[in-house]
Order: sequence, then C-alpha cells, then structure tokens
Amino acid sequence: MGCYLHKIVVRGNKPLFGEVEIQGAKNSALKIMAASILTSEPVVIDNVPKIRDVNVMVDVLEGLGLTVSRNDRRIVIQAKGPIGIEAPYQLVSQMRASIVVLGPLLARLGRARVAMPGGCNIGLRKIDLHIRGLEMLGAKINVGQASLEAEADVLVGANIPLDFPSVGATENIMMAACLARGTTVLDNAAREPEIVDLADCLNKMGAKISGAGTSTLVIEGVDKLKGASFRIIPDRIEASTFMVAGAITGGDVTVKSVDPSHLKMIIKKLKSVGCDVTVGINQVNVKGPAVLEAANISTLPYPGFPTDMQAPFMALLSLANGKSIITENVFENRFSFITELRKLGGEVDIERHHAVITGGSLLKSGAVRAPDLRAGAALVLAGLAIEGVVEILDIHHIDRGYDSFPERLASLGADIKVTKDESLVELSLAEGDSYQVPDVGVGI
Ligand code: EPZ
Repeated sequence: MGCYLHKIVVRGNKPLFGEVEIQGAKNSALKIMAASILTSEPVVIDNVPKIRDVNVMVDVLEGLGLTVSRNDRRIVIQAKGPIGIEAPYQLVSQMRASIVVLGPLLARLGRARVAMPGGCNIGLRKIDLHIRGLEMLGAKINVGQASLEAEADVLVGANIPLDFPSVGATENIMMAACLARGTTVLDNAAREPEIVDLADCLNKMGAKISGAGTSTLVIEGVDKLKGASFRIIPDRIEASTFMVAGAITGGDVTVKSVDPSHLKMIIKKLKSVGCDVTVGINQVNVKGPAVLEAANISTLPYPGFPTDMQAPFMALLSLANGKSIITENVFENRFSFITELRKLGGEVDIERHHAVITGGSLLKSGAVRAPDLRAGAALVLAGLAIEGVVEILDIHHIDRGYDSFPERLASLGADIKVTKDESLVELSLAEGDSYQVPDVGVGI
C-alpha cells in the first residue's frame, strides 16, 4: 500500500521552558476499554488519551459488535446484543495489546479467538503466561499458527503463580477470574499503577478484587458485572518523557495533572544525573543541569525503573559526563534504538542485555528512523539537545502513544516541525496493516 512519508524535524540546543498537561494513561485506557466486554451495561471512561492505539482498540471492540461513542476524552462502551468472539489479525497486528480481549471474551461468552500477535520490534513478546493462567481457570486453549482459540463452559477460580510479573498476563487472568466460580489467587502479579487502575475500575463494576498493587491478587468471582463511570490515571510514561525533555535541554519543565507517586524512580534517576526536581501535589518540575552526570540504570517491573523509559534515558545519558550502563531486564530486544542513536554520534557498546554509553558523544545532525514508540520519542528528545538538525522518520510509531507530541514540545519552545513528503511512496507494511499516517500538516 502507499503511504505519505512524514517526518519530524528538530533543531535542537534550545532549553525548553513551561508547563505541559499530561493525558490519561494509554496502558490503562486500553485495558479498561477491553474490560467493558465483561458487562452488558454501559461503561463510561474519562481522560482517555487521543492516540492511535486507542483508535485501534475502538476498532477491535466495534469489530466484536460493541457500541462505542466518543466525545473528546470520554468514551462510552456497551457490550449489549450479539458479541463476536474474534479479534482479527488485521487489528491485532497493528496493536499487540489487543490480546487483552482474550480474558474478557472467555469470561463473558465462554469462547474467544484472537489472532496470534507474534513478536514486535521490542522482542518476542510471548503469551505463554496468559495461556497457562487461563488454562488453570479451566479454559481449553488451542494455539494455531495464525490464531489462538479458547473455550470454557465454566471458569473456576484457582491458585495461579506467574513465572514473571507480566502486565498483560496479570490483566487477562484478573479479568477472566472476575466472572469465574470461586476464588482466584494470582501470585507474582504485576504491580504497575495501570493494574491498580484496572482493578479499581473492575471493582466499581462489581468485581471483588483485593491486593492490586501488591504481588498477590485475590479475586472472588461474581455472577455478573455492571456498568460504571471511571476516570483513567495520568500517563506516567508520557509525564516521564516530558520530564526528560526538560532535563536533556537544560530547561525548566513542569508536568501537570500527574500522580508523583508513580514517578518516584524517574525522579530519583533525574536527581542522580544532576537535575533539580520539585514535587508538588499533582505536578513535578524538572530543571536540567548545565552538565549532566552519568548514571547506571536497570529496567525492572514496577516499582523498578520502567523499560518504556530506557531509550529516553539512553538519549539523556549520551550527553552526560562519563560512562553510564543501562541493563534491560524486561524485553530482550529493546536495544534496536542504539543503531539509530549511533547515527547521531551516540557511542554505545552492547554486551548482551547491558549497554555501555559514553557520554558527551551525541553531537551530530542526521536522519534516523523511529523503530518503535518509545525509541521514537527518545530520538526526538536527542534531537532537542543536539546543536544541529535531526530528522526522524517513521513517526507513525510515536502517534501510537503520544498525542500531538511535536506540538506540545513546540509549546515549550522547541524548534520542531512535522513535514510531509509530497510523494506517495510504497512502504513494505506487515500483512493486513492498513494504517495510513494521518495528515498532520506542515509546520507547527
Ligand atoms: C505492557 O506490555 C505494556 N503494554 C508495555 O508498554 C510495557 O513496556 C510492558 O507492559 C512492561 O511494563 C501495554 O500495557 C499495552 P509484559 P506487556 O507482559 O503486557 C515476557 C509501551 O511502549 N512475557 O509485562 O506485553 C515478555 O516477552 C509498551 O507503552 C512472557 O515471556 O508486557 C517480556 O519480555 C510497549 N510470557 C516480559 O515478559 C508472557 O506470557 C514483560 O512483558 C507474557 C510476557
């Protein structure tokens, strides 16, 4: 298929100043939207971010027969009437998080068919833990080449220890267990704030979940869930990205409408590289230093350092004074960003899942490709700091998770533009991927 080539062009070396409002959390909104499958009553969700992944989830739910209405950041979803059982490849291939409809479909309809999401640019991203957990609740699951089929006459609560605190597996199992008979105890569960948000929403819908935010979730099954109104928590990764924008440019940026308790590890690391960080009730101010200091970082499940901020911090540490080490413990292939960073002069050596970054190396103008969502944002951040011009291609990845990212950076004083190549070019997209890059216009 053809597709217009858009790129972001950044002229850096300009400190950013000002305030930016943070949106609702992508990784909470997507799961709460899927949770609406569990009831025939309307679920009203507020503070839903305006991003492409949310559009894909709307398509998934509408494809299943749910009614979805949107008004700005409010989405109302109702799963009344006949509901389909299948999330097709065309949608799952665009957004891996579509797998999260599996648990709710199984619990509500006793059947589900979801296309196999496969790997992606950040790694293999297996779903064995989702499958094993649902099997322990009594589902029969058949994994084919192209899709996965699940069936259960009845789900029965069970004790399920997860080998790894997977976010997606915790969510799928938790949602299925809400309508199971009896009690489920999920051990080594993920503790991310988005899990707590999902559990809070499910409890408002009549579920009986305790322990969210700890490693042990206890879910007492109920017969039925009802509708609810729910407001999504602020996006801690979006907030962290703008905090790094302040830090990397030696600027003074305040992120507003955030929950600072979700940002503790980011605040700690920004302080360790020399930033002055001030925490307010629902805002955080970051003042970047004249010279950034090196630091060592290891990504871990929450409350550890988030893997989603690994690439932005690598860009930051490329400008620091001295050598830093980043260890990626969550995804096996989240270093693909380094190839692009090197094009801007970044000096990074990789040894297995460790990256050694020589600071002060990031200086060159250049053209780079966003390999995935967070790496794309990180390349923009690098561009903001470099004296010269950086062009970032493949920016549709960034639209997946950040609303109006260039525009909001421009409002903080960045010299940043989105330009559209006039020619329609053939791109090799994955089978069934029908995404057209939206027309964001020229200049901001
Ligand atoms: C969620 O992905 C987020 N996505 C990711 O956000 C985030 O990086 C990740 O959690 C970790 O915090 C959404 O919430 C939509 P996992 P998820 O299951 O659920 C392995 C972003 O940029 N694993 O916790 O897919 C897996 O391969 C992103 O917003 C298994 O081995 O993450 C990975 O190495 C992308 N078997 C690790 O666990 C399984 O069955 C963590 O995966 C499941 C996972």
